[in-house]
Amino acid sequence: MILDGKALAARLKAEMAEQMPQIEKEYGRVPALAVIIVGENPASQTYVRNKVKACEVTGIRSLMISMPEDTSEEALLAKIDELNSDDSVDGILVQLPVPKHINEDKVINAISVDKDVDGFHPQNVARLWLNEPCILPCTPKGIMHLIEETGIQISGKKAVVVGRSNIVGKPIAKLLLDANATVTIAHSRTRDLAAVCREADILVAAVGRPEMITGDMIKPGAVVIDVGINRISVDTPEGPKNKLVGDVDFASAEPVASWITPVPGGVGPMTICELMGNAIECFKRRN
Ligand code: GUN
Repeated sequence: MILDGKALAARLKAEMAEQMPQIEKEYGRVPALAVIIVGENPASQTYVRNKVKACEVTGIRSLMISMPEDTSEEALLAKIDELNSDDSVDGILVQLPVPKHINEDKVINAISVDKDVDGFHPQNVARLWLNEPCILPCTPKGIMHLIEETGIQISGKKAVVVGRSNIVGKPIAKLLLDANATVTIAHSRTRDLAAVCREADILVAAVGRPEMITGDMIKPGAVVIDVGINRISVDTPEGPKNKLVGDVDFASAEPVASWITPVPGGVGPMTICELMGNAIECFKRRN
């Protein structure tokens, strides 16, 4: 069965939109999210556009800040500082990656912990790993919502996370662990990755390699969460065409899995939906 992230995200965003008049009445204003993009990376521009659109749908005020590719690190940090001090701004997001001449860690560190809607700040990461209240990173939070949507019980299950990024791999492993799964984190150096994956009742693919997880690597009946968003070129009778594919080879995986997320329309929309939730959460905590 298809785990429809687009539909779930739409439902959750509609619920947020419904709450917005009450929030505005109670607090005297609506939450505000600042989204900063540096440069012209086309994929980043699409993501940022979708984030601003989601703000419109939910009733969150958005501030879209576009800065040129040659923006200095100093100028970006100054902009973040300005937004940190702006009491009318509740959440700050800098779309990653930033251009190479800007230090990503410095940028993440510069965002006020209270406005860190991505949950990337070291203090939020520490809180996550120490089981303290924190802002959870959006993609892992969205994945947990998707798994809950299947109705399967996570407790006691074997979960394999392929990929060990700070944004997805590591935090989703922690959330699955908190839900009492037995968690394995696999990566590029894992020996016999196929055998490791075949053990998984819940398989999360977050490696950024197009269609690398194939049906023969999946345990029959597993829940498969595909975090990959890869743009590849495919040959068609009309010539080469760009196509969006995940880290999972959907055609061979779909018949084996019990539930599987599509790409696009799976994890991607959930990430954005959770971002809206985090913006509202930051707003409520700050007020
Ligand atoms: N780039 C890719 N994913 C993300 C994300 O979740 N947040 C930000 N800020 N940048 C990203």
